[in-house]
Amino acid sequence: MLDQTTLRAKLDQKYDLAPSPELAEEMSEIYARMSRVVTPADWAIYAPYVKAINTLKKERNAVILGHNYMTPQIYHGISDFVGDSLQLAIKATEVEADVIVQCGVHFMAETSKILSPQKTVLMPDMDAGCSLAESITAKGIEEMRAKYPGAPVVSYVNTTAEVKAASDICCTSSNAAQIVAAQESHTVIMTPDQYLAQNVANEVPQKNVVWWEGSCIVHEQFTAQDLREFREWNPATRMIAHPECPPDVVAEADFSGSTSGIINYVTQEKPEKALLITECSMASNISDEVPEVEFVGPCNMCPYMKKITLENVLYSLDTMTGQVEVDAAVAEKARLSVQRMIDLSRKLGL
Ligand code: 13P
Ligand code: SF4
Repeated sequence: MLDQTTLRAKLDQKYDLAPSPELAEEMSEIYARMSRVVTPADWAIYAPYVKAINTLKKERNAVILGHNYMTPQIYHGISDFVGDSLQLAIKATEVEADVIVQCGVHFMAETSKILSPQKTVLMPDMDAGCSLAESITAKGIEEMRAKYPGAPVVSYVNTTAEVKAASDICCTSSNAAQIVAAQESHTVIMTPDQYLAQNVANEVPQKNVVWWEGSCIVHEQFTAQDLREFREWNPATRMIAHPECPPDVVAEADFSGSTSGIINYVTQEKPEKALLITECSMASNISDEVPEVEFVGPCNMCPYMKKITLENVLYSLDTMTGQVEVDAAVAEKARLSVQRMIDLSRKLGL
């Protein structure tokens, strides 16, 4: 992948991308959705990119699917649909477009390609990985099956296509407990996130949940001790954790949910102060929507999600580089696991 400076130089030859206060003003309606977290000077830099991307999107009949962890300029500026992993996977099956640009990480783009093989799926930076997806291979699934014969394998969507293909069904953080509870078997194998599995085990005590030892480098950093100390000093702050956090962290929190679950909780409850125990962009993306909520405390950046920039989105869409391909036989099997999850989620009314 080209570095940002080379990308900019290449793009400058074709597009007028000089910072423009005039364009920024013209596009003030978009800016209003991020004005509390993006300075006017930065918006003048972003506006020419946002305009170029939105124009090119129409020419290419493309849609941009933006994960909730994208920066505000991507989330509000260029995304046609935003959401958590489950919502984006479902959206990929519904959109009528020739091209999907996945503003998220590689496993999300692969999921879109698996579900829509006829569409071109672009990944603006192929190095946007995920520590969970990297923690397990199809061989790891085989090992788990050998250890727990007959137990179904529920794999988080944060996995490669090969791992999905080797699994029985997928899950996301918004449906994991219900998917596990719906399995006939008493023992259920969950991969690759040990913490999501342990959180599910607490929610579904009737099942014997066993897990792979993977973890998310963003969420594993939060500790229950940090939360306890924070609560002592800030008793009025509502603490909201993603279920990729260790179970003792989730136990200290007031609410735990998927990225969209967290957004819904904050926008509905509107607590005076909120600590989002997850990726930093989450608070930024809803700051303007809920100005009455003060976001406090530490958050962690996902270095993979932050690889997606306005520059590489424009470059990818302009040159149509970064096309995601999945081997047809692998995709067919992986599709079964993802589709089973979508069908079961719908059946359960999730
Ligand atoms: P969500 O499905 O909750 O959006 O989570 C995806 C993810 O990678 C969180 O780290
Ligand atoms: Fe993967 Fe964690 Fe980044 Fe989500 S936040 S993409 S789970 S590394």
